Amino acid sequence: MVRITSALNIAALVLCAAAQNVTILKQTLSAKGVTAVYQGDSNYSTVSRAFNRRFTISPVAVAFPTTVSQVAAAVAAGTAQKLEVVARSGGHSYIANGLGGNNGALVVDLSKLKAVTVRPSNNTALIETGNRLGDVALALNAKGRALPHGTCPYVGIGGHSGYGGFGFTSRAWGLTLDTVKSAMVVLGNGTIVSTSANVNPDLFWAIRGASPSFGIVTSIEVQTFPAPPSATVFSYNWNNLNISAASTTITAFQTFAASNIPPEFGAELVFGKGSSSGKLSVELTGGYYGAANLFSDIIARYLNAPGMPKPSSKTVTPGSYIDSVKYFAQPQALNTSMAPDGSDNFYTKSLMTPSGSPMSASAVKAFVTYMANQGFSSNTDWFVEVELYGGSNSAINAVPLDSTAFAKRDTLFTIQFYASAPTGATSYPAAGFTFLDGMVSSILNNSPANWNYGAYLNYIDDKLANATTLYYGSHYARLMSLKATWDPKDTFRFPVGVA
Ligand SMILES: Cc1cc2nc3c(=O)[nH]c(=O)nc-3n(C[C@H](O)[C@H](O)[C@H](O)COP(=O)(O)OP(=O)(O)OC[C@H]3O[C@@H](n4cnc5c(N)ncnc54)[C@H](O)[C@@H]3O)c2cc1C
Ligand SMILES: *[C@@H]1O[C@H](CO)[C@@H](O)[C@H](O)[C@H]1NC(C)=O
Ligand SMILES: *[C@@H]1O[C@H](CO)[C@@H](O)[C@H](O)[C@H]1NC(C)=O
Ligand SMILES: *[C@@H]1O[C@H](CO)[C@@H](O)[C@H](O)[C@H]1NC(C)=O
Ligand SMILES: *[C@@H]1O[C@H](CO)[C@@H](O)[C@H](O)[C@H]1NC(C)=O
Ligand SMILES: *[C@@H]1O[C@H](CO)[C@@H](O)[C@H](O)[C@H]1NC(C)=O
Ligand SMILES: *[C@@H]1O[C@H](CO)[C@@H](O)[C@H](O)[C@H]1NC(C)=O
Ligand SMILES: *[C@@H]1O[C@H](CO)[C@@H](O)[C@H](O)[C@H]1NC(C)=O
Repeated sequence: MVRITSALNIAALVLCAAAQNVTILKQTLSAKGVTAVYQGDSNYSTVSRAFNRRFTISPVAVAFPTTVSQVAAAVAAGTAQKLEVVARSGGHSYIANGLGGNNGALVVDLSKLKAVTVRPSNNTALIETGNRLGDVALALNAKGRALPHGTCPYVGIGGHSGYGGFGFTSRAWGLTLDTVKSAMVVLGNGTIVSTSANVNPDLFWAIRGASPSFGIVTSIEVQTFPAPPSATVFSYNWNNLNISAASTTITAFQTFAASNIPPEFGAELVFGKGSSSGKLSVELTGGYYGAANLFSDIIARYLNAPGMPKPSSKTVTPGSYIDSVKYFAQPQALNTSMAPDGSDNFYTKSLMTPSGSPMSASAVKAFVTYMANQGFSSNTDWFVEVELYGGSNSAINAVPLDSTAFAKRDTLFTIQFYASAPTGATSYPAAGFTFLDGMVSSILNNSPANWNYGAYLNYIDDKLANATTLYYGSHYARLMSLKATWDPKDTFRFPVGVA
């Protein structure tokens, strides 16, 4: 779109700037005792740095409230200055939405809200949203409890539980958001409300799938699970598979998933560059949370499927539940107070394949051919994960579609396409975007025109065409209407949000 700069537009800009008075913001936050870092402060660059270094974002300020009422005061102060306000939990948004995604936001950093309380009476846990996944896993495990969630220990529970939350226990226990029983939410006008199936049920629905657009969730009450007595972690590796054999690892995975596999089985296929064009490295990794002696019979059904190549190597390690969480977190530790967070410079896309219409043989072949050929030429550091959401007995898909805002309950695979800038690059290469876009197209161009696929908000991508449909699906109209009720001033606005 071409913008015509007119005297009127300049006048509007000046008005807008006048409405956003940082002096007043500072005075208000200071009067409420809320610590904040502003542009020009010595630690501004540290507190405003994005996990994804592809983004350089300049918020107006980063506030560090220590209580729920300080969160409310910060939000109200931001709204009064017509600023866009965003929560930051772990800061791992792929497009830096925890910093606003665009310049000029007020960031409400939740890292000082760290309580985790397990209540033995009903096995719920009250988790403040400044916690990261590794610390949550440790705190729950200390009481013999566990929660479904992803593998990276530094991901924040705030963003993760707001958009989904997939890990290898999710086929047994659901997504992180499926465990939420109630939540405290700070609205755009600074009001603190509770939400549950009985209290503000429409807001409760919206925050389980689209929370960032509705408010700042300060704590979630989750239903925990007994930490399983045994967890078997596994990794099967195939080096330099040709296109036909690598295609079989996917088609056989689809067939295997539809057979009677138990919910305690969680897995993903991981693809990477081979040592020559036309070749790929493939890994099947995951966790089995049932009795260790049953694992070999289950996995044999996949490994011995027709046409499956023989693995080059494997490791299968039974252990405790928390051992499995530690294993998947490597090389990072679960306790995130020991070392600072990492970072990367990357582009990510996702594609959720519908259970009722798995990828066709021609789509799989085109996809694998693309990874094996274009993937070999690409100078990006890339990988692809084919995560098993569905298949028989999956708790993710057992949840009725309309009971939460999460829009994709018929998913077989969630595929994550991830390409990092080459080591030492100062900026993200343009070829990295075309490489990943082409990879997704290789699947879509060989799939039915009306294929009911989707995309995963926790792998959020601001370059995705038709993002509204792919992310929010049939829930978007209801989300827009609830947005008008609960955030009428559009305080919580950022790329790819509900608008
Ligand atoms: C290394 C790595 C590994 C990952 N592994 C997995 C995985 O195994 N499984 C999986 O499902 N996902 C995974 N993800 C994706 C991850 O779930 C998302 O990036 C998630 O949104 C990050 O949450 P955050 O709180 O760390 O990020 P933030 O950037 O802090 O927040 C993300 C979004 O949520 C909003 N938000 C944060 N806190 C709140 C709150 N309390 N209330 C309302 N809105 C809030 C922010 O404003 C922002 O829009 C991974 C990401 C990375 C970087
Ligand atoms: C911001 O508010 C302060 C305090 O009320 C006032 O002195 C200042 O002129 C305002 N700045 C702008 C740009 O309006
Ligand atoms: C930022 O630096 C100031 C001054 O050095 C310090 O008082 C404050 O605690 C720091 N804030 C954060 C969030 O690190
Ligand atoms: C669980 O127990 C706690 C403490 O007894 C109580 O506050 C909470 O409301 C209960 N939650 C549910 C979902 O029953
Ligand atoms: C992490 O380690 C610190 C320092 O030893 C400790 O105080 C804290 O309780 C640990 N956190 C968890 C969740 O175990
Ligand atoms: C591809 O690899 C498989 C097993 O790894 C082998 O059986 C097959 O002959 C190979 N195909 C071609 C065309 O090289
Ligand atoms: C976007 O989604 C709608 C609804 O499914 C569909 O009709 C339309 O063709 C899609 N557009 C593109 C460009 O994919
Ligand atoms: C705050 O916003 C909510 C949701 O829009 C509304 O119901 C409530 O009345 C507002 N409170 C005040 C004090 O304006």
